[in-house]
Amino acid sequence: METLFNEGSNLAGAVDRAFIFIFAISFIFTIGITALMIYILIHFSRKRNKNPQQFSHNTKLEVAWTIIPLIIVMMMFYYGWVGFAPMRKVPANAMPVTVIGKMWSWEFDYGNGKVSKELVVPFNRNVKLNLVSLDVNHSLFIPAFRVKEDVIPGYNNYLWFRPIMKGTFDIYCTEYCGLAHSNMLAKAIVVDSLEFNKWLADLKVADNLPDHPGLAIVKANACLTCHSMDGSKIIGPSFKGLYGRKTVVVAGTGEKEIEENDEYIKRSIIDPNIEIVKGFNQGLMLSYKDKISAEELDKIVDYFKSAVEKK
Ligand code: CUA
Repeated sequence: METLFNEGSNLAGAVDRAFIFIFAISFIFTIGITALMIYILIHFSRKRNKNPQQFSHNTKLEVAWTIIPLIIVMMMFYYGWVGFAPMRKVPANAMPVTVIGKMWSWEFDYGNGKVSKELVVPFNRNVKLNLVSLDVNHSLFIPAFRVKEDVIPGYNNYLWFRPIMKGTFDIYCTEYCGLAHSNMLAKAIVVDSLEFNKWLADLKVADNLPDHPGLAIVKANACLTCHSMDGSKIIGPSFKGLYGRKTVVVAGTGEKEIEENDEYIKRSIIDPNIEIVKGFNQGLMLSYKDKISAEELDKIVDYFKSAVEKK
């Protein structure tokens, strides 16, 4: 149902008009200039004009090539301004949602205890997104709504929109923010207001409260951006069947087989580059020494243990 040309928000139409206007002008000029070049090449070739002519200026021509482009760029400015100005004027009744960007995931905080991995918004209501980064520069882009804004640490950026189409739309990070930048994705889901209110009031959504405190820590640190739960290879080894698994690691210059036990899991989080699982690259994971406490490490190990035992 989602197409490239969905105008999913109240702001989309004006953005499209500016784009189409500039595109059409560019198209006409590309054709026109190319045709003129070919004409001049033939018409003024040396074969047809044996004696070169000298001339200084042509007032009519100079006025024309100044005034016409001026009118065209002023029209481009007009369409751009008409699309842009409303984007920075947030209606007073807009519902605020705090967007937290971090390497490499999005989180949407509704301020009532509801924190979601998806941006769920009510149909036809004004929504203001307050953009917060916990680490580096990111950029929030919702193509269907034609909104895109940088998410910068220490700077309170924002955007707003009114969704005018129900459905599920893609959210991208569109500022290169490190290795898993291209995995920094989410969904914007537009539902009617009854459904939205029900969703907002329900604080026990699976995404919100994982069934294990260790898994909650794993999710909160966005480990799952690089480590899958289903056995597939992303950037690091999968978490599936991790605990107790025998694996070959490259340490220093040699290889050795180790068991993925408590100690190994903790060491891999604190000092990820000492032993690299064979087939993976060194230097892609940074130490979580300052981000995950000893107590939390125990919970993570406990989670991996329970995940294997459940099978
Ligand atoms: Cu975050 Cu790219």
